[in-house]
Amino acid sequence: MSQSPLAIKTDNVGRIYKKKAAKRVSRASSPDSSRQLVALDGVTLEVEKGELFGLLGPNGAGKTTLIKVLTTLLTPSFGSAEVLGYDVVREPKAIRERINMVSGGETSGYGILTVKENLWMFSQFYGVPTKEAHRRSDELLARLELTGMKDTRVSGLSTGERQRMNFCRGFITDPEVLFLDEPTLGLDVHIARVTREFTREWMRKNPERTVLLTTHYMAEADELCDRIAIIDKGRVLACDTPENLKRMLQAQPVFQIRAGGLSESGIDGIRSTTGVIGLTQEFDLETSHHSLNLILQEESVISDVVGAIGAAGGKLVGLEKHEPTLEDVFVKLVGRSLKEDVTE
Ligand SMILES: Nc1ncnc2c1ncn2[C@@H]1O[C@H](COP(=O)(O)OP(=O)(O)OP(=O)(O)O)[C@@H](O)[C@H]1O
Ligand SMILES: [Mg+2]
Repeated sequence: MSQSPLAIKTDNVGRIYKKKAAKRVSRASSPDSSRQLVALDGVTLEVEKGELFGLLGPNGAGKTTLIKVLTTLLTPSFGSAEVLGYDVVREPKAIRERINMVSGGETSGYGILTVKENLWMFSQFYGVPTKEAHRRSDELLARLELTGMKDTRVSGLSTGERQRMNFCRGFITDPEVLFLDEPTLGLDVHIARVTREFTREWMRKNPERTVLLTTHYMAEADELCDRIAIIDKGRVLACDTPENLKRMLQAQPVFQIRAGGLSESGIDGIRSTTGVIGLTQEFDLETSHHSLNLILQEESVISDVVGAIGAAGGKLVGLEKHEPTLEDVFVKLVGRSLKEDVTE
Protein backbone atom coordinates (compact mmCIF):
# COMPACT_ATOMS: atom_id res chain seq x y z
CA MET A 1 0.00 0.00 0.00
CA SER A 2 1.27 3.47 -0.84
CA GLN A 3 1.88 5.93 1.97
CA SER A 4 -1.09 8.13 1.26
CA PRO A 5 -1.44 11.10 3.62
CA LEU A 6 -4.31 11.29 6.04
CA ALA A 7 -7.29 13.40 4.98
CA ILE A 8 -7.05 15.39 8.21
CA LYS A 9 -4.43 15.39 10.92
CA THR A 10 -4.29 17.77 13.84
CA ASP A 11 -1.71 17.80 16.57
CA ASN A 12 -2.65 19.62 19.76
CA VAL A 13 -4.21 22.36 17.68
CA GLY A 14 -5.62 25.36 19.52
CA ARG A 15 -7.26 28.66 18.82
CA ILE A 16 -7.53 31.58 21.18
CA TYR A 17 -9.84 34.49 20.38
CA LYS A 18 -9.01 37.91 21.72
CA LYS A 19 -12.19 39.27 23.23
CA LYS A 20 -12.91 42.90 22.65
CA ALA A 21 -13.69 44.54 25.98
CA ALA A 22 -17.23 45.92 26.00
CA LYS A 23 -16.25 48.59 28.49
CA ARG A 24 -12.97 50.24 29.22
CA VAL A 25 -11.34 48.30 32.03
CA SER A 26 -8.26 49.30 33.89
CA ARG A 27 -5.18 47.23 33.11
CA ALA A 28 -4.54 46.37 36.73
CA SER A 29 -7.92 44.71 37.22
CA SER A 30 -7.93 42.91 33.91
CA PRO A 31 -5.23 40.31 33.49
CA ASP A 32 -4.68 39.27 29.87
CA SER A 33 -6.33 35.90 30.34
CA SER A 34 -9.71 37.51 31.04
CA ARG A 35 -9.70 38.98 27.55
CA GLN A 36 -8.92 35.70 25.87
CA LEU A 37 -11.25 32.90 24.95
CA VAL A 38 -9.80 29.46 24.35
CA ALA A 39 -12.13 28.14 21.63
CA LEU A 40 -9.96 25.15 20.75
CA ASP A 41 -7.87 23.72 23.53
CA GLY A 42 -5.43 21.22 22.04
CA VAL A 43 -7.29 18.97 19.62
CA THR A 44 -5.52 15.93 18.26
CA LEU A 45 -7.40 14.03 15.56
CA GLU A 46 -6.64 11.77 12.63
CA VAL A 47 -9.19 11.24 9.88
CA GLU A 48 -8.44 8.69 7.16
CA LYS A 49 -9.36 9.25 3.53
CA GLY A 50 -12.77 7.76 2.85
CA GLU A 51 -14.11 8.45 6.32
CA LEU A 52 -17.30 10.27 7.12
CA PHE A 53 -16.25 11.86 10.36
CA GLY A 54 -18.58 13.70 12.72
CA LEU A 55 -17.98 16.44 15.26
CA LEU A 56 -20.62 16.46 17.94
CA GLY A 57 -20.76 19.06 20.67
CA PRO A 58 -22.91 21.72 22.31
CA ASN A 59 -23.06 25.38 21.19
CA GLY A 60 -19.69 27.02 21.58
CA ALA A 61 -17.80 23.71 21.77
CA GLY A 62 -15.39 24.82 19.06
CA LYS A 63 -16.70 22.84 16.07
CA THR A 64 -16.90 25.74 13.63
CA THR A 65 -13.57 27.08 14.86
CA LEU A 66 -11.95 23.73 14.10
CA ILE A 67 -13.51 23.71 10.62
CA LYS A 68 -12.29 27.27 10.02
CA VAL A 69 -8.75 26.28 11.00
CA LEU A 70 -8.87 23.23 8.71
CA THR A 71 -10.27 25.23 5.79
CA THR A 72 -7.49 27.84 6.30
CA LEU A 73 -9.90 30.65 7.18
CA LEU A 74 -8.35 31.00 10.66
CA THR A 75 -4.78 30.34 11.72
CA PRO A 76 -4.19 28.15 14.76
CA SER A 77 -2.86 29.89 17.88
CA PHE A 78 -0.84 26.81 18.75
CA GLY A 79 -0.29 23.26 17.57
CA SER A 80 -0.51 22.18 13.93
CA ALA A 81 -3.02 20.89 11.42
CA GLU A 82 -2.75 19.26 8.02
CA VAL A 83 -5.31 18.53 5.33
CA LEU A 84 -4.29 15.92 2.72
CA GLY A 85 -0.73 16.24 3.98
CA TYR A 86 -0.61 20.03 3.48
CA ASP A 87 0.00 22.34 6.40
CA VAL A 88 -2.82 24.83 7.05
CA VAL A 89 -0.40 27.69 7.73
CA ARG A 90 2.32 27.05 5.16
CA GLU A 91 0.29 25.55 2.30
CA PRO A 92 -3.21 27.07 2.37
CA LYS A 93 -3.45 27.34 -1.43
CA ALA A 94 -2.89 23.62 -1.96
CA ILE A 95 -5.59 22.89 0.60
CA ARG A 96 -8.13 25.36 -0.80
CA GLU A 97 -7.88 23.83 -4.27
CA ARG A 98 -8.81 20.42 -2.90
CA ILE A 99 -11.54 21.13 -0.40
CA ASN A 100 -14.93 22.75 -0.13
CA MET A 101 -17.16 23.81 2.72
CA VAL A 102 -20.88 24.24 3.36
CA SER A 103 -22.18 25.99 6.47
CA GLY A 104 -25.77 25.72 7.60
CA GLY A 105 -27.54 29.04 7.75
CA GLU A 106 -24.96 30.92 5.67
CA THR A 107 -26.32 33.53 3.33
CA SER A 108 -23.66 33.12 0.69
CA GLY A 109 -24.41 33.17 -3.02
CA TYR A 110 -25.00 36.16 -5.21
CA GLY A 111 -28.63 37.23 -4.83
CA ILE A 112 -28.84 38.79 -8.25
CA LEU A 113 -27.76 35.56 -9.98
CA THR A 114 -30.03 32.57 -10.48
CA VAL A 115 -29.51 29.25 -8.71
CA LYS A 116 -28.01 27.72 -11.84
CA GLU A 117 -25.75 30.73 -12.46
CA ASN A 118 -24.48 30.61 -8.88
CA LEU A 119 -23.52 26.95 -9.19
CA TRP A 120 -21.91 27.64 -12.54
CA MET A 121 -19.87 30.50 -11.10
CA PHE A 122 -18.58 28.40 -8.19
CA SER A 123 -17.70 25.54 -10.54
CA GLN A 124 -15.65 27.99 -12.60
CA PHE A 125 -13.75 29.26 -9.53
CA TYR A 126 -12.43 25.73 -9.28
CA GLY A 127 -11.92 25.23 -13.02
CA VAL A 128 -14.45 22.44 -13.50
CA PRO A 129 -14.70 21.70 -17.28
CA THR A 130 -17.88 23.12 -18.87
CA LYS A 131 -19.64 19.87 -19.76
CA GLU A 132 -18.86 18.31 -16.40
CA ALA A 133 -20.00 21.44 -14.54
CA HIS A 134 -23.39 21.32 -16.30
CA ARG A 135 -23.74 17.61 -15.67
CA ARG A 136 -22.99 17.96 -11.97
CA SER A 137 -25.21 21.00 -11.63
CA ASP A 138 -28.18 19.24 -13.27
CA GLU A 139 -27.68 16.14 -11.15
CA LEU A 140 -27.37 18.05 -7.87
CA LEU A 141 -30.35 20.29 -8.58
CA ALA A 142 -32.47 17.24 -9.42
CA ARG A 143 -31.43 15.39 -6.28
CA LEU A 144 -32.07 18.38 -4.04
CA GLU A 145 -35.43 18.94 -5.78
CA LEU A 146 -34.41 22.35 -7.04
CA THR A 147 -34.67 21.78 -10.80
CA GLY A 148 -37.87 23.80 -10.94
CA MET A 149 -36.09 26.72 -9.27
CA LYS A 150 -32.90 26.73 -11.32
CA ASP A 151 -33.80 30.02 -13.00
CA THR A 152 -34.94 31.71 -9.79
CA ARG A 153 -32.75 34.45 -8.40
CA VAL A 154 -31.09 33.46 -5.13
CA SER A 155 -32.55 36.55 -3.46
CA GLY A 156 -35.99 35.00 -4.04
CA LEU A 157 -35.28 31.69 -2.30
CA SER A 158 -36.56 30.62 1.10
CA THR A 159 -34.01 29.88 3.83
CA GLY A 160 -34.27 26.12 3.28
CA GLU A 161 -34.03 26.46 -0.52
CA ARG A 162 -30.93 28.59 -0.16
CA GLN A 163 -29.45 26.00 2.17
CA ARG A 164 -30.16 23.31 -0.45
CA MET A 165 -28.36 25.42 -3.07
CA ASN A 166 -25.40 25.82 -0.70
CA PHE A 167 -25.33 22.07 -0.30
CA CYS A 168 -25.14 21.67 -4.12
CA ARG A 169 -22.37 24.26 -4.21
CA GLY A 170 -20.29 22.14 -1.82
CA PHE A 171 -20.40 19.13 -4.10
CA ILE A 172 -20.14 20.79 -7.51
CA THR A 173 -16.37 21.15 -7.25
CA ASP A 174 -15.97 17.44 -6.39
CA PRO A 175 -13.65 18.21 -3.44
CA GLU A 176 -11.29 15.64 -1.98
CA VAL A 177 -12.32 16.71 1.51
CA LEU A 178 -15.71 18.30 2.11
CA PHE A 179 -16.50 20.18 5.31
CA LEU A 180 -20.18 20.30 6.20
CA ASP A 181 -20.94 22.57 9.16
CA GLU A 182 -24.53 21.82 10.23
CA PRO A 183 -25.62 21.02 6.66
CA THR A 184 -29.18 20.06 7.60
CA LEU A 185 -29.84 23.14 9.74
CA GLY A 186 -33.28 24.44 8.85
CA LEU A 187 -34.05 21.67 6.35
CA ASP A 188 -37.29 19.74 6.57
CA VAL A 189 -37.12 16.07 7.51
CA HIS A 190 -37.52 14.82 3.94
CA ILE A 191 -34.81 17.00 2.39
CA ALA A 192 -32.50 16.37 5.37
CA ARG A 193 -32.80 12.66 4.57
CA VAL A 194 -32.09 13.35 0.88
CA THR A 195 -28.88 15.18 1.80
CA ARG A 196 -27.76 12.31 4.03
CA GLU A 197 -28.43 9.74 1.31
CA PHE A 198 -26.70 11.88 -1.30
CA THR A 199 -23.62 12.37 0.91
CA ARG A 200 -23.31 8.62 1.49
CA GLU A 201 -23.74 7.79 -2.21
CA TRP A 202 -21.21 10.43 -3.20
CA MET A 203 -18.66 8.90 -0.86
CA ARG A 204 -19.39 5.36 -2.03
CA LYS A 205 -18.66 6.34 -5.65
CA ASN A 206 -15.09 7.24 -4.77
CA PRO A 207 -13.53 5.67 -1.67
CA GLU A 208 -10.93 8.47 -1.44
CA ARG A 209 -13.53 11.14 -0.70
CA THR A 210 -13.69 12.39 2.88
CA VAL A 211 -16.37 14.33 4.73
CA LEU A 212 -16.04 16.10 8.06
CA LEU A 213 -19.45 17.03 9.37
CA THR A 214 -20.82 18.82 12.41
CA THR A 215 -24.35 18.26 13.54
CA HIS A 216 -26.64 18.83 16.49
CA TYR A 217 -28.81 15.94 15.49
CA MET A 218 -27.73 12.90 17.43
CA ALA A 219 -29.63 10.51 15.13
CA GLU A 220 -27.95 12.06 12.11
CA ALA A 221 -24.50 11.51 13.62
CA ASP A 222 -25.40 7.97 14.61
CA GLU A 223 -26.83 7.04 11.22
CA LEU A 224 -24.30 8.77 9.02
CA CYS A 225 -20.88 8.88 10.61
CA ASP A 226 -18.17 6.22 10.52
CA ARG A 227 -16.55 7.84 13.54
CA ILE A 228 -17.50 10.66 15.85
CA ALA A 229 -15.48 13.00 18.06
CA ILE A 230 -17.49 14.37 20.97
CA ILE A 231 -16.14 17.80 21.78
CA ASP A 232 -16.85 20.26 24.56
CA LYS A 233 -15.06 23.44 25.59
CA GLY A 234 -12.52 23.03 22.82
CA ARG A 235 -11.44 19.52 23.83
CA VAL A 236 -12.10 16.07 22.43
CA LEU A 237 -13.77 13.99 25.14
CA ALA A 238 -14.10 10.79 23.11
CA CYS A 239 -13.51 9.67 19.54
CA ASP A 240 -14.75 6.37 18.18
CA THR A 241 -17.37 4.64 16.03
CA PRO A 242 -20.98 5.23 17.15
CA GLU A 243 -21.17 1.55 18.13
CA ASN A 244 -18.07 1.71 20.32
CA LEU A 245 -19.18 4.96 21.91
CA LYS A 246 -22.45 3.31 22.89
CA ARG A 247 -20.58 0.25 24.14
CA MET A 248 -18.80 2.55 26.62
CA LEU A 249 -22.09 2.60 28.48
CA GLN A 250 -22.70 -1.13 28.47
CA ALA A 251 -21.78 -1.55 32.11
CA GLN A 252 -23.94 1.41 33.09
CA PRO A 253 -27.65 0.81 32.71
CA VAL A 254 -29.86 3.50 31.21
CA PHE A 255 -33.39 3.89 32.54
CA GLN A 256 -36.33 5.89 31.34
CA ILE A 257 -38.71 6.97 34.08
CA ARG A 258 -42.03 8.77 33.77
CA ALA A 259 -43.31 10.52 36.84
CA GLY A 260 -45.92 13.10 37.80
CA GLY A 261 -45.81 15.83 40.43
CA LEU A 262 -42.09 16.56 40.29
CA SER A 263 -40.65 20.02 40.88
CA GLU A 264 -37.28 21.28 39.64
CA SER A 265 -35.81 20.93 43.14
CA GLY A 266 -37.22 17.41 43.37
CA ILE A 267 -35.46 16.53 40.13
CA ASP A 268 -32.23 18.05 41.48
CA GLY A 269 -32.61 15.72 44.48
CA ILE A 270 -32.92 12.71 42.17
CA ARG A 271 -29.90 13.91 40.21
CA SER A 272 -27.78 14.04 43.36
CA THR A 273 -28.71 10.49 44.43
CA THR A 274 -25.52 8.46 44.89
CA GLY A 275 -24.90 6.31 41.80
CA VAL A 276 -26.70 8.60 39.31
CA ILE A 277 -24.15 9.44 36.61
CA GLY A 278 -26.39 11.48 34.35
CA LEU A 279 -29.96 12.71 34.23
CA THR A 280 -31.83 14.53 31.51
CA GLN A 281 -35.45 15.53 31.62
CA GLU A 282 -38.33 16.42 29.35
CA PHE A 283 -41.72 17.71 30.38
CA ASP A 284 -44.86 16.55 28.61
CA LEU A 285 -47.35 19.44 28.64
CA GLU A 286 -50.28 17.18 27.78
CA THR A 287 -49.91 14.75 30.66
CA SER A 288 -47.91 17.01 33.03
CA HIS A 289 -45.51 14.13 33.43
CA HIS A 290 -41.75 14.37 33.49
CA SER A 291 -39.77 11.94 31.43
CA LEU A 292 -36.38 11.32 33.02
CA ASN A 293 -33.49 9.60 31.32
CA LEU A 294 -31.00 8.27 33.85
CA ILE A 295 -27.56 6.74 33.48
CA LEU A 296 -26.74 4.73 36.59
CA GLN A 297 -23.56 3.37 38.09
CA GLU A 298 -25.27 -0.02 38.46
CA GLU A 299 -28.75 -1.43 38.22
CA SER A 300 -29.35 -1.56 41.98
CA VAL A 301 -29.25 2.25 42.17
CA ILE A 302 -32.75 2.29 40.65
CA SER A 303 -34.35 1.50 44.02
CA ASP A 304 -32.74 4.61 45.56
CA VAL A 305 -33.94 6.64 42.57
CA VAL A 306 -37.50 5.40 43.05
CA GLY A 307 -37.16 6.29 46.75
CA ALA A 308 -35.96 9.79 45.84
CA ILE A 309 -38.96 10.30 43.54
CA GLY A 310 -41.29 9.40 46.42
CA ALA A 311 -39.39 11.65 48.82
CA ALA A 312 -39.75 14.53 46.34
CA GLY A 313 -43.52 14.04 46.29
CA GLY A 314 -43.49 12.51 42.80
CA LYS A 315 -45.65 9.67 41.53
CA LEU A 316 -44.02 6.98 39.39
CA VAL A 317 -45.95 6.34 36.17
CA GLY A 318 -43.55 4.21 34.16
CA LEU A 319 -40.08 2.72 34.34
CA GLU A 320 -38.08 0.90 31.70
CA LYS A 321 -34.49 0.03 30.98
CA HIS A 322 -33.24 0.72 27.45
CA GLU A 323 -30.22 0.31 25.21
CA PRO A 324 -27.83 3.27 25.43
CA THR A 325 -28.10 5.83 22.63
CA LEU A 326 -25.53 8.33 21.44
CA GLU A 327 -27.49 10.92 23.43
CA ASP A 328 -26.77 8.94 26.63
CA VAL A 329 -23.07 8.81 25.78
CA PHE A 330 -23.13 12.54 25.24
CA VAL A 331 -24.84 13.16 28.60
CA LYS A 332 -22.29 11.00 30.37
CA LEU A 333 -19.33 12.80 28.80
CA VAL A 334 -20.57 16.38 28.65
CA GLY A 335 -22.80 16.30 31.72
CA ARG A 336 -25.89 17.60 29.98
CA SER A 337 -28.12 16.90 27.05
CA LEU A 338 -27.31 18.22 23.59
CA LYS A 339 -31.05 18.78 23.18
CA GLU A 340 -30.86 21.53 25.81
CA ASP A 341 -28.89 23.62 23.32
CA VAL A 342 -31.08 23.12 20.32
CA THR A 343 -33.81 25.54 19.49
CA GLU A 344 -35.87 23.56 17.03
N1 LIG B 1 -14.80 35.64 16.08
C1 LIG B 1 -14.87 35.29 17.36
N2 LIG B 1 -14.41 36.11 18.33
C2 LIG B 1 -14.45 35.77 19.63
N3 LIG B 1 -14.93 34.59 20.09
C3 LIG B 1 -15.42 33.73 19.17
C4 LIG B 1 -15.42 34.03 17.76
N4 LIG B 1 -15.96 32.97 17.11
C5 LIG B 1 -16.30 32.07 18.06
N5 LIG B 1 -15.98 32.50 19.29
C6 LIG B 1 -16.15 31.76 20.56
O1 LIG B 1 -15.42 30.56 20.46
C7 LIG B 1 -16.12 29.47 21.04
C8 LIG B 1 -16.31 28.37 20.03
O2 LIG B 1 -17.18 28.83 19.01
P1 LIG B 1 -17.57 27.92 17.76
O3 LIG B 1 -18.30 28.80 16.80
O4 LIG B 1 -16.35 27.24 17.25
O5 LIG B 1 -18.54 26.87 18.43
P2 LIG B 1 -19.45 25.74 17.77
O6 LIG B 1 -19.09 24.46 18.41
O7 LIG B 1 -19.39 25.82 16.29
O8 LIG B 1 -20.91 26.17 18.29
P3 LIG B 1 -22.35 26.07 17.56
O9 LIG B 1 -22.88 24.72 17.85
O10 LIG B 1 -23.14 27.13 18.28
O11 LIG B 1 -22.19 26.37 16.11
C9 LIG B 1 -17.43 30.07 21.57
O12 LIG B 1 -17.28 30.30 22.95
C10 LIG B 1 -17.58 31.37 20.80
O13 LIG B 1 -18.25 32.32 21.58
MG1 LIG C 1 -20.79 26.20 14.81
